[in-house]
Amino acid sequence: MAKRQTIREGDTVLLYLNKRRSYLLNVAEGKSFHTHKGYVQLGDLIGRKFGTQLRSNLDVEFVALKPTLRDFIFKAQRKTQIMYSKDIALMVMFSGIGPGCRIVEAGTGAGALTTALAFYAKPRGRVYSYEIRPEFQAVARKNLEKAGVIKYVELKSSDISLGIDERNVDAVVLDLATPWQVVSQAYVALQGSGSIVSFSPTIDQVVKTAEALEDNGFVDVATFECIMRGMQVARGKTRPQTLMTGHTGYVTYARKALRTSAA
Ligand SMILES: C[S@@+](CC[C@H](N)C(=O)[O-])C[C@H]1O[C@@H](n2cnc3c(N)ncnc32)[C@H](O)[C@@H]1O
Repeated sequence: MAKRQTIREGDTVLLYLNKRRSYLLNVAEGKSFHTHKGYVQLGDLIGRKFGTQLRSNLDVEFVALKPTLRDFIFKAQRKTQIMYSKDIALMVMFSGIGPGCRIVEAGTGAGALTTALAFYAKPRGRVYSYEIRPEFQAVARKNLEKAGVIKYVELKSSDISLGIDERNVDAVVLDLATPWQVVSQAYVALQGSGSIVSFSPTIDQVVKTAEALEDNGFVDVATFECIMRGMQVARGKTRPQTLMTGHTGYVTYARKALRTSAA
């Protein structure tokens, strides 16, 4: 995710046509991109500023936007269910992470949440991301490379419920089917007061996880559901959109209390 304003050869741009159609593309001299609205020459963007407009051969206007974290995540390749931005935002906030933090994550899946964690922990922080399915890990690696955050991530091919190698981490972040099986391992890996945040689609998973957290030395155990409703904005007829995503999952959060007390 470039800090510069001027587009260079090799940069990624989000070529925006309208709310429904935008494309994440690499800029290269001599490379054209074809759409149903004609084709554009991506090389024409070199030396121009992000936000610049570009016309297709059919005289349709596109805008070359600088991709954000959200663009990289939602335009990425996926083989697993990835998280929605509302849930990623909540997970990041509750994890308490920031630049320099060390984070353990499982499962990696398509690497959507991993991308967000690495984005907020960089440049000195690290995400240690566990995944049992090599084919998912391969997709995640590509997505993390495209988003420019792979150097802040260690992809690990193992079952997190069998053990976590890292110690004194700031946060453990989970998006897998059986998070309660990871709670005792997470306690060992976390530093005192570190956060655990877990995403689960069902209440049954939440109850097992919350009970495991309470039984394993965690405090401040809490669960939230975030419901997001889009608005249809038009003068004189602004109202909620008719259709919305009714359910994604629940976010369960807790903090590690040390077992030793101050005398
Ligand atoms: C819902 S997906 C995660 C999606 C991911 N959060 C994302 O945003 O792309 C769950 C992943 O957890 C992995 N998984 C399940 N159990 C695991 C375990 N015990 N250790 C490591 N990975 C596991 C699955 O293979 C799957 O890829």
